Amino acid sequence: VVGIAAPAAEPAEAARRTKIWVYFATWWALNVIFNIYNKKMLNAFPYPWLGATLSLAAGSAIMLASWATRIVEPPQTDLDFWKSLSPVAVAHTIGHVAATVSMAKVAVSFTHIIKSGEPAFSVLVSRFFLGEHFPAPVYFSLLPIIGGCALAAVTELNFNMVGFMGAMISNVAFVFRNIFSKKGMKGKSVSGMNYYACLSMMSLVILLPFAIAMEGPKVWAAGWQKAVAEIGPNFVWWVAAQSVFYHLYNQVSYMSLDEISPLTFSIGNTMKRISVIVASIIIFQTPVQPINALGAAIAILGTFIYSQAKQ
Ligand code: 3PG
Repeated sequence: VVGIAAPAAEPAEAARRTKIWVYFATWWALNVIFNIYNKKMLNAFPYPWLGATLSLAAGSAIMLASWATRIVEPPQTDLDFWKSLSPVAVAHTIGHVAATVSMAKVAVSFTHIIKSGEPAFSVLVSRFFLGEHFPAPVYFSLLPIIGGCALAAVTELNFNMVGFMGAMISNVAFVFRNIFSKKGMKGKSVSGMNYYACLSMMSLVILLPFAIAMEGPKVWAAGWQKAVAEIGPNFVWWVAAQSVFYHLYNQVSYMSLDEISPLTFSIGNTMKRISVIVASIIIFQTPVQPINALGAAIAILGTFIYSQAKQ
């Protein structure tokens, strides 16, 4: 029986692996494009609260249109689903806006170097809030992560406290988002794509009033006019691109969560950050000192050691 089953299983496994690699490559590429246009927009129009709101709005609009036209089958949801989604949405909103505020203040590469420290936050939150215990190598792997991030931060040429804190807050918020969403997706019939769609919609509703309070339509209108006058019609494309690509990369990442373990996901996420850090340094010609690059490399190496230790 084994002899007969094996040849059929092999192509199925190969197809599954190919599918995962296609997800990963798509996720990283979409994420690089998002980061580039997001930073271009923020350089010309430094209003991260509106930028963060528009990306959630674009995702919500795309998914509502996909459901209305039945390109995507709408999910069957009940009150319990939306209730269990609410903590995920609060954490997603905080993490998203904090990362966007960070990127408005510092280089994209710096935000992502600090964000590569997310596994350290994951271990600390799981240990102190959920009472989980890990083997000693997992705790040791936090040393290069924290040390590398700290070295990169103190040697960063354009260090800014708001930018640093934004990336740190985003780390904490996304750890909670991942914990809550893992619980929320378990045993539910809603697919990764639809789960992320509902998450965008709920986050948009949460974020909009805060964005109005923090920045507001008057400031936006004046900033928008200035940006269009300086950049020209391309500016509108940058805003559209950052909004649409934000949704697309997150959607693909949630779709891949359907197929892979959270551990594989976090390795994929670290590799994603390497592509963003390298691409943004090249495109924005970010000045990097060797010691600064060393800090980033140690932090990223630490996240790989962490993945191995957790396995
Ligand atoms: C955001 O704006 O939400 C962040 O840029 C996303 O960060 P991520 O790389 O962790 O998705």
